[in-house]
Amino acid sequence: MVMAEGILEGRRLVLRPLAEADAAELGSAVADSREALRKRLGWAAPDPAPGDAAAFIAAVRAAAEARTALSWGVFEAKGGALAGVASLDELQPAERGHARLALWVRTGRTDRGYATEAGRLVVEHAFKTLALRRLSARLDPVNRAFRRVLKRLGFRYEGCLRADKRLNNRWIDQECWGMLRSDRAPAKPTTRKK
Ligand SMILES: CC(C)(COP(=O)(O)OP(=O)(O)OC[C@H]1O[C@@H](n2cnc3c(N)ncnc32)[C@H](O)[C@@H]1OP(=O)(O)O)[C@@H](O)C(=O)NCCC(=O)NCCS
Repeated sequence: MVMAEGILEGRRLVLRPLAEADAAELGSAVADSREALRKRLGWAAPDPAPGDAAAFIAAVRAAAEARTALSWGVFEAKGGALAGVASLDELQPAERGHARLALWVRTGRTDRGYATEAGRLVVEHAFKTLALRRLSARLDPVNRAFRRVLKRLGFRYEGCLRADKRLNNRWIDQECWGMLRSDRAPAKPTTRKK
């Protein structure tokens, strides 16, 4: 459900644009998740500078202002803890009606269906509110958790770019997944076991 400009509310999560005041908590979430972020996304420096989280928030706010990307902090509705970040990158609404979905969930809060719930909210926002035509996602083939999430969201496998990305000093393949507005099935109840 869309509550206000850019705020998306789910059953257990509230997604809202990150604000300067979230910098300390974002820094802790990144610190907690450093190993997963390094392994899967190749970022999260071993020695983060104190201003890294604030600089990230300033950058995503500037991108949102320029409408080149939209990012949300993923917050637990109960208690308000920051559980991750979701984004629509490479936003090209006018030219191609396209964006790329990316998200991460804080270590210690994975396997609760949070990525699925946050992803659903962002997908709905992308197609209904932003009226995008197509969403894409890129996947490291060993990232089985994200593949599960993409499938559950309704993304389809579209092919593989071989040795396309440099990650942690090796060239990795990139699976391409996509979803068209017309792929969306009628809403079904969540079928997760947890
Ligand atoms: C990928 C990621 C976002 C998933 O977040 P999450 O909140 O745990 O996702 P969900 O709980 O909604 O679903 C995860 C699913 O993957 C499954 N899974 C988790 N680890 C797995 C593994 N090693 N092998 C196979 N399946 C796995 C879970 O069992 C779950 O499936 P199920 O609901 O059918 O049981 C999270 O692991 C993460 O942040 N990883 C690092 C960053 C990243 O890879 N982002 C994606 C690219 S942008």
